Amino acid sequence: MKITLVGAGAIGSLWAGALARQGHTIHLWRRQTDSTCTLNWQGLDAPDADTFTFRCNQPDQLSRSDIVLITVKAFQVAEAIKNIAPWLRTATPVIVMHNGMGTEKEVLQLLPDNPVLYATTSQAALRLRANSVRHTGIGPTWLGAVNRAGNQWQALASVLNTALAPCQWHDDIHAPQWQKLAVNCAINPLTAIHQCRNGNLALPDFAAELTDICREVAAVMTAVGYTTRTETLLQHTLTVIKATAANFSSMQQDVANQRPTEIDAITGFLLEQAHHFQLAAPANTAVWQQIKHLEQNYD
Ligand code: PAF
Repeated sequence: MKITLVGAGAIGSLWAGALARQGHTIHLWRRQTDSTCTLNWQGLDAPDADTFTFRCNQPDQLSRSDIVLITVKAFQVAEAIKNIAPWLRTATPVIVMHNGMGTEKEVLQLLPDNPVLYATTSQAALRLRANSVRHTGIGPTWLGAVNRAGNQWQALASVLNTALAPCQWHDDIHAPQWQKLAVNCAINPLTAIHQCRNGNLALPDFAAELTDICREVAAVMTAVGYTTRTETLLQHTLTVIKATAANFSSMQQDVANQRPTEIDAITGFLLEQAHHFQLAAPANTAVWQQIKHLEQNYD
């Protein structure tokens, strides 16, 4: 297939290389203006990296794409779609994959005719240099439609699954999105505030804060209709903490590099929903404020 990837951060580069290895033609759409770029792609536990050269920023390639996969951060999604809109055919399915929630309404307004799908992934990747990425952990990816036209594209789950397993279709993509949001609410702000690896959160010092965050998320999820318990979310979070113990979370890396974080799409989205259901969320409010304070004090 001809696939355009919009945004080539760690997760975008991971998928670009994984899809290229399956023989798909990858075209990147990115901020840098170069017409080609080379990617060193290192698989999990693979001693040698694969090297790919991709064409970049070619409107004709974009308009001929069979799929567009958008992997920019949540706060960049609307602008990315506006950038590609002049060349995007309405029949082309668009998959949006980012941490956090809350972009769907605007995306559907911007793409009223395209099949629109969302994906949420727990695959882990580390960008080593600008053109180099390493796959650092396996986790599930879920794909699902957010409009009727998107529902015709369930086969895309097996395209993604062949490239980077496991990937499965979900009839209600919001369910796995909320599960991932819960993990991100717990891990991302705390690792960013304390500038530590995910594994550090398994220390007893963090037990009370993690429990408070999970309790508030569980109350909001239950109000939304995804009934769950504090213990379930806490256990799941601890499993991810252990599975990704050596990794730095995306928010830790954003703060370390003084980049804008995804706090508004993660904890901010949770707080909006808490407000809607008139639920108090003091632990999440506290970490949201701390991340905002860090961002406002970048050099
Ligand atoms: O954002 C991240 O870094 C990841 O989603 C997760 C699951 C927290 C692991 O690092």
